[in-house]
Amino acid sequence: MRGAIREWAIANLKVSGEFDVLPTIGSKELVALLPTFLQSKKVLYPKVAYPTYLVGALMASAEAVAVDIDPSTWINADLAWLNSPSNPTGQVQTDHQINQAITWGRKNNAVVASDECYLSFAPGAKSILELAGGDNTGLLAVHSLSKRSNLAGYRAAFVVGDHKLIERIRQFRKHAGLMVPAPVQAAMIAALSDNDHATAQAQRYSNRRDILSKAIRDAGITIEHSTAGLYIWCTKNEDCFKTVDWFANLGILVTPGSFYGSDKFIRVALTATDQQIQMAADRINS
Ligand SMILES: Cc1ncc(COP(=O)(O)O)c(C=O)c1O
Repeated sequence: MRGAIREWAIANLKVSGEFDVLPTIGSKELVALLPTFLQSKKVLYPKVAYPTYLVGALMASAEAVAVDIDPSTWINADLAWLNSPSNPTGQVQTDHQINQAITWGRKNNAVVASDECYLSFAPGAKSILELAGGDNTGLLAVHSLSKRSNLAGYRAAFVVGDHKLIERIRQFRKHAGLMVPAPVQAAMIAALSDNDHATAQAQRYSNRRDILSKAIRDAGITIEHSTAGLYIWCTKNEDCFKTVDWFANLGILVTPGSFYGSDKFIRVALTATDQQIQMAADRINS
């Protein structure tokens, strides 16, 4: 399995130089436990974000600081999280911003962990490990087959990057009982050795995004970012629960942005079937 991850990472993330790989029990395990594994004292995470970055820092009794995604504004810390494409905003960070994060990490002798679990749904976007150009010191890229291969129930994910950091993480994990079960390892090898299903899945999400985005815009709702990944991030410039109610009255379930740190936005997922997405679009414009 580690060989399959290595090969996939070289071909798809374009990682070079010295690096190692480690399977994880879903990427949530790593996001929740990385500050504990690294014994981090101060953790930076995006202001509008997947909640587990904050929870992981709290679990490690680390100081958690919510920051803008622009690394030029970051303060000194020992771990920073990037998430591009973002859950919930669908924002893709520029190569320049990711390079700035790498520079921040080197300057502060800090770890930069890039949660890239939606990268397969962002044509043209680069892994932090490609931008690192062969020097992976202090860098980790977090990936998940939950998203790329729709294997959420398998809890199949992995981290790629700095071999010394990965060795440190491995030492803790193997004593914490977090080994990936053999049947899941076999499924990971199968999923990683085929790219066609991932390409088809990415196309499916892109089509759904086009249909729903148009319907949402035509209804006068403002979409921000939302260029890649699995979500549309939008606002009616009102309390998010009011917008949640508006969608609920149409029989459509959306997530309040307050779950992610923004109380005027809602998150619409592209994970319903093609038929349901079309039905939702029709109802939004009815
Ligand atoms: C940004 C982000 N990271 C990590 C995860 C964890 O996913 P999994 O544990 O299924 O790999 C999610 C799940 O939605 C997510 O949105």
